Amino acid sequence: MGFSHRFNLSVRRPPMAVWLWISLILLQGSVGVLSDSNYLIGLGSYDITGPAADVNMMGYANMEQTAAGVHFRLRARAFIVAEPQGKRVVFVNLDACMASQLVTIKVLERLKARYGDLYSESNIAISGIHTHAGPGGYLQYVVYIVTSLGFVRQSFDVVVDGIEKSIIEAHENLRPGSVFVNKGELLDAGVNRSPSAYLNNPMEERSKYKHDVDKEMTLLKFVDSEWGPVGSFNWFATHGTSMSRTNSLISGDNKGAAARFMEDWFNKNGVEMSNSNDREYGGVPRRVSNILHEVHDNHHELLELAASFQSPPGKPATKRLSVARRVRSALRQTEKPGFVAAFCQTNCGDVSPNVLGAFCIDTGLPCDFNHSTCGGRNELCYGRGPGYPDEFESTRIIGERQFEKALDLFNKASEQLQGKVDFRHAYLDFSKLEVTIPNQGGGSEVVKTCPASMGFAFAAGTTDGPGAFDFKQGDDQGNPFWRLVRNLLKNPNQTQVDCQHPKPILLDTGEMKQPYDWAPSILPIEMFRIGQLVILSVPGEFTTMAGRRLREAVRTVLTSGGKGHFNGDVHVVIAGLTNTYSQYVTTFEEYQIQRYEGASTLYGPHTLSAYIQEFKKLASAMLSGQPVQPGPQPPDLLAKQISLLTPVVMDATPAGVNFGDVKSDVPKNSTFKRGDMVSVVFWSACPRNDLMTEGTFALVEALQGEDTWVPSYDDDDFCLRFKWSRPSKLSTRSMATIEWRIPESATTGVYRIRHFGASKGLLGSIRHFAGSSSAFVVS
Ligand SMILES: *[C@@H]1O[C@H](CO)[C@@H](O)[C@H](O)[C@H]1NC(C)=O
Ligand SMILES: *[C@@H]1O[C@H](CO)[C@@H](O)[C@H](O)[C@H]1NC(C)=O
Ligand SMILES: *[C@@H]1O[C@H](CO)[C@@H](O)[C@H](O)[C@H]1NC(C)=O
Repeated sequence: MGFSHRFNLSVRRPPMAVWLWISLILLQGSVGVLSDSNYLIGLGSYDITGPAADVNMMGYANMEQTAAGVHFRLRARAFIVAEPQGKRVVFVNLDACMASQLVTIKVLERLKARYGDLYSESNIAISGIHTHAGPGGYLQYVVYIVTSLGFVRQSFDVVVDGIEKSIIEAHENLRPGSVFVNKGELLDAGVNRSPSAYLNNPMEERSKYKHDVDKEMTLLKFVDSEWGPVGSFNWFATHGTSMSRTNSLISGDNKGAAARFMEDWFNKNGVEMSNSNDREYGGVPRRVSNILHEVHDNHHELLELAASFQSPPGKPATKRLSVARRVRSALRQTEKPGFVAAFCQTNCGDVSPNVLGAFCIDTGLPCDFNHSTCGGRNELCYGRGPGYPDEFESTRIIGERQFEKALDLFNKASEQLQGKVDFRHAYLDFSKLEVTIPNQGGGSEVVKTCPASMGFAFAAGTTDGPGAFDFKQGDDQGNPFWRLVRNLLKNPNQTQVDCQHPKPILLDTGEMKQPYDWAPSILPIEMFRIGQLVILSVPGEFTTMAGRRLREAVRTVLTSGGKGHFNGDVHVVIAGLTNTYSQYVTTFEEYQIQRYEGASTLYGPHTLSAYIQEFKKLASAMLSGQPVQPGPQPPDLLAKQISLLTPVVMDATPAGVNFGDVKSDVPKNSTFKRGDMVSVVFWSACPRNDLMTEGTFALVEALQGEDTWVPSYDDDDFCLRFKWSRPSKLSTRSMATIEWRIPESATTGVYRIRHFGASKGLLGSIRHFAGSSSAFVVS
């Protein structure tokens, strides 16, 4: 959503004298009118949708799943919390599958150039929500860019730009404010997808918990001392796999959807109305059309008016239109910045949003419990979301459940964060960490982590997206083809086999360095403190029990007395998939089962113990006010990246047809009802020519008066889908199909559908174009 009107707010900041005065009061701890503004807070948000064509989607590792349109847009959302004269932390939540080491490195370089030492790797966390419906190719290690045909510069650039812009915006919005925390259970948005591995955890440990996944959402509420509530970030564990492995529309999946619903809702209704039940069309907030004036209510008049707007030929657009911004700014009722709502990922490793369970597509029966197979084959076993068989519905429902829980926690949040802002960060070489663990005899022993490797069950995939290989999950054999490929790549030696035991090694990624590193070995761990809230940033997907163990270990350090320890409650959340990516982290016991998550735990059975040991060091250092060793720098592999995705060669239309011309219009003089689908096909060009960042490929306009068209819905709206296609793979021609499911909240009136794009000429020049359907009536 294009709420980028948050720029240019600096003029409303208090003048310097007032600023100092505020700071002084805060430093003295005085109470009074500003007593609740104990921090400076700033929020920001920017479009990171990326290339909506040809690029492989990141997540399912399915070669055939390439982008071909937009379900709704992806964003980077950032908050900064600072002590008025002290430290600050920045947290960025990406509607992307995960963070990327290379992206993090480049963002840090840009921020250093802009702000000097104010922001660094130590006080910035960049986290991914784990949508499996965003463009890939922005990571640097080979394994993560195999299916995207290598590195994709466009995907990378848009993410780096978006993060930088979201942080700049948050920085420029920094104003006195306060932060509240609240927690609550959300029961129906996640199930364990590897319960047989979970069951291998000790009984005494499992009996401490009611569920086999974490049901708790932890939410922060940001309140500007002048404007009131301006945003919210929350952490809740569930995979971004409501959209399936065959979806081709860019989507933020359930967490992106939740963010969309919450921001729209707040920007429409304002905070004062947030307790009312003013939602409709399945919870999707009421939209712009509500504020349009109804000028014609006579159906015949409407039809005549519509008939006077027949589909005009497509025409060159002189400049790229930033329409999303205009649609959203129409929603704003006050001067205050748009609401930023982020739904962040946590220990989702074994948590599926496909809450109905996993079933065989051939028989309709539940899959084999231990192996997630059907008649011995994994590729027939699929998890079902609550909207089954409609993945868009499942996305909406799981998104809405998170949104509703977040709204409830937001409205009831009363515990204010108070106290220091602090951070610790360390890089660690996970290929060879020594870890001290308790042994059977009550003493301790030293074990080691191993160079990265992936087990055979990795190739089997999960019930959220079964692999295309005939391996059984939990299988320790593997098939001969993969054994052969594995051996061609790198044969693990006995030291590695023993270290990784019982994982049967499919890919010895940690020891494969050609043409460049296949997997990371140096990983960042990071800890933020904002008063009594602690955020542990981990570069992977912790399973439920792995996350619980880490949180408990850190909580114990923080509350066990000694200098600087936390009194009373401390809220510990894990930010998953943060700063870089290194796949999964299971418990030692789950690792023994070698399902997908265990097979994808890269550094061997003691990976989790290593994290716990090292995070305890960060926690102790924070308590005692000591620094930690920075550790070895991760490599910057940008110069070595190989890109095999072919660029757009050129776009063309049939003779006598312009880009933007309507290929298939709405029926003449047609009237639609709410709930109907309106579909229009335009002659188009490859969306990679212009990503329409902070803009839109599709627009629904409503007629106001006799001849004024007002933007009402864009490609960021759930009700409007932009689908792009080519008649054949090598064709220079392409089509945009724009589908509008008319929401219940749409007002009666005359509407039209527009398409915006950019075409590439034979010599490489980019020309923007726009097209429009004929007008039609909604009654
Ligand atoms: C459409 O409606 C207009 C105005 O009511 C009328 O003049 C025209 O003949 C109609 N066209 C068709 C194809 O029905
Ligand atoms: C799963 O495996 C465990 C351990 O081998 C076994 O005890 C159990 O019966 C199996 N469950 C099913 C449903 O096959
Ligand atoms: C396996 O390779 C590693 C790294 O090259 C080496 O340290 C180790 O000694 C080797 N082990 C055996 C059994 O050759």
